[in-house]
Amino acid sequence: MYRLVCVKCGARYPPDAILYNCSACGHLLAVEYDLDKVSVDRAVWDSRPLSVWRYRELLPVNIPPVTLQEGGTPLYHLKRIGEELGLPHLYAKHEGMNPTGSFKDRGMTVGVSMAIQLGKTTVACASTGNTSASLAAYAARAGIPAVVLLPAGKVALGKVAQALMHGARVISIRGNFDQALEMVHELCLTHGLYLLNSVNPFRLEGQKTIGFEAIDQLGAVPDRIVLPVGNAGNISAVHKGLKELLALGLIDRLPMMTGIQAAGSAPIYRAICEDLPEVVPELHPETVATAIRIGAPVNAEKALTAIRETGGTAGVVSDEEILAMQKALARREGIGVEPASAASVAGVKKLLECGAIDRDEYIVCVVTGHLLKDPETVIRQCEPPLEINADLPSLVSALQSSSS
Ligand code: F0G
Repeated sequence: MYRLVCVKCGARYPPDAILYNCSACGHLLAVEYDLDKVSVDRAVWDSRPLSVWRYRELLPVNIPPVTLQEGGTPLYHLKRIGEELGLPHLYAKHEGMNPTGSFKDRGMTVGVSMAIQLGKTTVACASTGNTSASLAAYAARAGIPAVVLLPAGKVALGKVAQALMHGARVISIRGNFDQALEMVHELCLTHGLYLLNSVNPFRLEGQKTIGFEAIDQLGAVPDRIVLPVGNAGNISAVHKGLKELLALGLIDRLPMMTGIQAAGSAPIYRAICEDLPEVVPELHPETVATAIRIGAPVNAEKALTAIRETGGTAGVVSDEEILAMQKALARREGIGVEPASAASVAGVKKLLECGAIDRDEYIVCVVTGHLLKDPETVIRQCEPPLEINADLPSLVSALQSSSS
């Protein structure tokens, strides 16, 4: 019912090929279904709980999946921030509400299930943090070992804690994420581990369900879906999924796919602005949003297609804009996200200011990870708690002085 296909030269590979790039030309692979043979019944989907597995006819797994009940995340109307920006139809899909606190769980439930389906016994990834936390948890669920490579000193505390606690073999390299990914890719090719970064086409299949859920929750196709972009897998995955819904006649148009990057690591943004055929890697990426501190996005080719084919765009935001929006989401909407996640909403504000977004658009921002992932960045931005003696007069006087 499906095969792997090269996005560049169209070479086809069987569904059980363990491949991360086209053997003929080296470009990225994607899962291709015989959509004319897929039987999808809207009523059947609607009768299942909102989750990754609601859409199982469009997923490659045919064994009982390795699952922690991922997906089914809330879609919040951003009423106050929307009012301030003059955007009445601004929404946030809170992917931080997944089992390990990020959208990566959608990819890992499918990716680790595929590892088992393909008979692989050890899984591996490089990560800016969330992928490692998720892989560690799903490998534990499956009862297989995981190896994760992290850029030393550049991974938020909560994410390292998760990878360690779930029992992954955690290795910090003296280098950045791009170098870690190259190393682990090579390790997997030479030593038979199963690579679960977003070059793995099966992982992206799980992540495409973000778009499916957003449409089901909104009851309509949004005009625009906005995502923070690092390695560019997620924006590519959502676009692929929606193209499948279009081909199946389940939707009648595609949203404008819009990617937001941090100013210190913005190769996709630059390629879109300068209309380049491919990205020029950023050799020394830097941003407070460590999740998207990536200079050479491996899925750039797919992401540029997603943005260009849908008439979308790319935006860039400074660290200050990211942190200000993280605070606004927390304080004005009650939505706690990590810095990279706030980039999508901060990007909307920026694109609106330069006239790239219309005020009447229905916009879904994907906020990708939970506030608790990066407690250190949060603490740095907030006043520390006031410490007082344990008596009521001290409490009353503290409240009077802090409210004045
Ligand atoms: N937001 C968060 C919270 C992320 O962790 C990531 C990626 C992204 C956005 C960007 O998604 O790479 O698909 O464009 N984190 C990866 C990791 C790289 O290792 O956890 P992308």
